[in-house]
Order: sequence, then C-alpha cells, then structure tokens
Amino acid sequence: MRSIDLRSDTVTLPTPEMREAISRAELGDDVFGEDPTTLELQTLSAQMMGKEAALLVPSGTMGNLVCTLTHCARGEEVILGDRSHTFLNEAGGMAALGGLHPRTVLNQPDGTIRLEDIESAIRGDNDHFPRTRLICLENTHNFCSGSPLPPEYTDAVVDLARRYRLLVHLDGSRIFNASVALGIDVKRLIRNVDSVTFCLSKGLSAPVGSVVCGSRKFIAETRRTRKVLGGGMRQCGIIAAAGIIALDRMIERIAEDHENAHRLAEGIKNIQGLSIDLEHIRTNIVYFNLADGRLSEEKFLTELGRRGIKFLRSGPSRFRMVTHYGISADDIDEVLRSLSEVLTNHL
Ligand SMILES: Cc1ncc(COP(=O)(O)O)c(C=O)c1O
Repeated sequence: MRSIDLRSDTVTLPTPEMREAISRAELGDDVFGEDPTTLELQTLSAQMMGKEAALLVPSGTMGNLVCTLTHCARGEEVILGDRSHTFLNEAGGMAALGGLHPRTVLNQPDGTIRLEDIESAIRGDNDHFPRTRLICLENTHNFCSGSPLPPEYTDAVVDLARRYRLLVHLDGSRIFNASVALGIDVKRLIRNVDSVTFCLSKGLSAPVGSVVCGSRKFIAETRRTRKVLGGGMRQCGIIAAAGIIALDRMIERIAEDHENAHRLAEGIKNIQGLSIDLEHIRTNIVYFNLADGRLSEEKFLTELGRRGIKFLRSGPSRFRMVTHYGISADDIDEVLRSLSEVLTNHL
C-alpha cells in the first residue's frame, strides 16, 4: 500500500534532477574552502537573500545554533517565542553548548510576539541580570499554524532591537513558504535582520542542508562556530548540488503545497468530530483537533495508519499534517475520505 506521509515537509525525497546534479557535482574539500559547488550555492543563497555572505550547514538546528552562538557570549540572554522551534525542539542547544540563557515570551497565534512583551523582557543594566543580546523570530512559524510574518512586523522588531543595541536572528527554515504565501520577495522579508537560517531540505525538497546568511564578517565567524560543532563537511558539493536545484526550480511550486493545505483544512472543517481554526492556515502546515472523546487519539492514528496515512500528534487531541512536493490534490482527497470514514465508523 502506498503511504501518504503528512508528518512533515522534511520527508520529501530529492527530485530526479537533484539526483542527476548530485551525481555530476564538481567537488573539493570545503573545509579548505575548495568545493566549487558549495561555493556556488553559498553565492546564490547570499544573492537571493540580499545578504553579503552565506554558509552551508547540515541542518536547520545547526543553522540556528551556529547563529546564536556566534552572536552571543556565555551567560547572555536570548529572547524568543515560547512556541518557537528553537526553544521547543532543538534540544536546548543554545544552553547546553553555548551557556546562553533563553528568555521565552508569549507567541501570539499568528507567530508574532507583541512588541511590548519583547520590550518588557529586555534586561536593564544590573549586576543581577544576564545581559540581553539577541531576539529570535521564526518565519513561517511552525507551531503557530505555519503563519508567515509580514515584513512590517519583522522591521518593527528590528527597530526595537536597534533602540536597545540588540541583534535579531530569524529562523527562516520555511522563509520561501512565507515569501510565496505573502507574494513578497524573500529579500524584503529578511531585509533588516542580522542573520537568517533557511532550509533546503523542507519544502524545497533537497535531501540535506540549510544555509545561514548575514554580513561577510558574521559569516566568517559562523564558519568557525560550525567547525567547533563538527559541521565542516568536506565534499559537501553533493549536498549543495541538490540545494542549487532547490533554489532554482522548487520555490514557485510551493504555491501548490499551500493550495493543498487549504483544500485539506477546508475539508477537515466539514468533518464531524474534527475541529480546526482556519484563520491562520496560510502555508503548508495544518493543525486540527479531534473534538470528540469517543475516539481515542491512539485509535485515530492507528486507523488512519492502517489506511496508509501518516501524520503527527502535536498535543492533547491535536494533530498536524504538512503538505509538500510528495503530496498531490488527489492525495488530499483520499486523506479527507479516510478521515471521514474513520470518524463515521467510530463515533
Ligand atoms: C521552524 C523550524 N526551525 C528549525 C527546524 C530544524 O531543522 P532541522 O530538522 O533541519 O534541524 C525545523 C524543523 O522542522 C523547523 O520547523
């Protein structure tokens, strides 16, 4: 039985063109700065992001970690959303490896953090306090329905940061989803932030890799931090080759993932026993709730699993489905049929 895997857009497999590019990639030792394909990917990434320089890293987690560790010194404080991926799902790396102090502030359902909440979390100069150094945002915001952050909001956070001489890092793992959903060039979305991480291996379908971008000076430092973390990757042109195809060919088609997510969300809304808040679903991530206690979460997942449909539980009675390159509109219809069937049979 073919499975329909909606657990994440990280399950995407490389396209035939990526496999072909991987097999003929020109390679060298990137730790010596000699891998031509990696250098090409980094130049392309910096250009597309409108930043001076870029660095390939193995994962989004390492991208965020390399940036936070490069921006901050031990004992300094990082302000970030309480629903942010970096706080919830990156194994506490900034504290474990950098001695950084995460200060969480409430994320609103649209992925923003109120400016006044950020401002009141900024520390004054006092021997008792850690020093605030960095503010982190996430665009799109995974755990807040994949919401895209509008550029005016990011600009307002950067303005606030500048007033207090703070830095801003953006976890833009899905920044191209934000760009496509908002119809705004990615350069504009990240124009004023000090650093950004974006992922090749999510909606863009490359098998591995993320890229961090920032000033030339900052990226030179991140190279060093990446080395400390064991992230120097030698002939990583085989990764970069797929990344170049991802950036050249895979961005526009993300609109299809958003349409499929919308189709899925609309369908879920009409299924008795499920509930969904449609308001913030604008990209490829769909959260919904099992609204009837007669069907247990385990049974729900097992019954759908038996029909080849994979997705994640993301909290009590809450589930997540993510659309991507491997999912078609027909798959969505099949998922909706299966959801209806399971709910009808068990309620
Ligand atoms: C918003 C966000 N940031 C960072 C990451 C981490 O990326 P990776 O799995 O490549 O480490 C993820 C992973 O899903 C994510 O959703």
